[in-house]
Amino acid sequence: MAKIIDGKAISAQIRAEISEDVIAFEREHGFAPSLTVIIVGEDPASQVYVRNKEKACIQVGIRSDIIRLPAETEEAQLLSVIEKLNNDPDVNGILVQLPLPKHINEKNVICKIDPKKDVDAFGYENTGRIMAGDYDFLPCTPAGVMELLHRSGIDVCGKDCVVIGRSNIVGKPMAMLLMHDNGTVTVCHSKTADLASHTRRADILVSSVGKPDFITADMIKEGAVIIDVGINRLENGKLTGDVDFEGCFEKASAVTPVPGGVGPMTVTMLLKNTLTAAKKQN
Ligand code: GUN
Repeated sequence: MAKIIDGKAISAQIRAEISEDVIAFEREHGFAPSLTVIIVGEDPASQVYVRNKEKACIQVGIRSDIIRLPAETEEAQLLSVIEKLNNDPDVNGILVQLPLPKHINEKNVICKIDPKKDVDAFGYENTGRIMAGDYDFLPCTPAGVMELLHRSGIDVCGKDCVVIGRSNIVGKPMAMLLMHDNGTVTVCHSKTADLASHTRRADILVSSVGKPDFITADMIKEGAVIIDVGINRLENGKLTGDVDFEGCFEKASAVTPVPGGVGPMTVTMLLKNTLTAAKKQN
């Protein structure tokens, strides 16, 4: 039977540590670290994510500002808002909520953010620094997964790690971070032939697919660590991950639940990056 990796509890512990650091920062500098989030348009899921980020900032004492722009905003206008924030010493972290409306080029926007304020670490300078293993910020979801592993006493060194998904936000940086920890990493994706032959070899399996019950017990190794990055909403409104939790629970040695696993860690890592940004700028 698996141990459940409690992302909510680990997240609460890290947020308490961040709160203490924020107090110390404020005592030294006379102001708290600050995060500005830009949201363009009315995407309901994005609205919820942005509100959660704001609540989390308030919880740990980080100043939070949200700039809401209409869906018709031109790319040039958005770039000019970012430019202003780049030059504002009162702003330590900048995050543009994705996805953006189709007429805006995402790459131009994420690369416009000053790399020192790029708390998502999606810009190409930070992406390159992660590849080189010389970074200040890590993308929040993969960083959250690494914290879950470290704080659960799971050693990655020498393990067979399989990542499913190759996005710039999760899969690719996830593979890089597992490699930095000396894991032997395989990245699988929608074109992978015989996916189960890879997943069955995984000591650590990270799934970022976006399909409920995609990972079943017959696809995992006895004693594997299963990290579920999927967030899927079922027709009954319930949230679920990629993993058949009940089935895999019997066979795995550790598994993250959804909700309450990787999810809470993502926002916590954003708080950590904002604090790091403020420290580096001051
Ligand atoms: N949309 C969904 N997840 C994220 C995230 O981590 N950062 C940003 N900027 N947008 C997102």
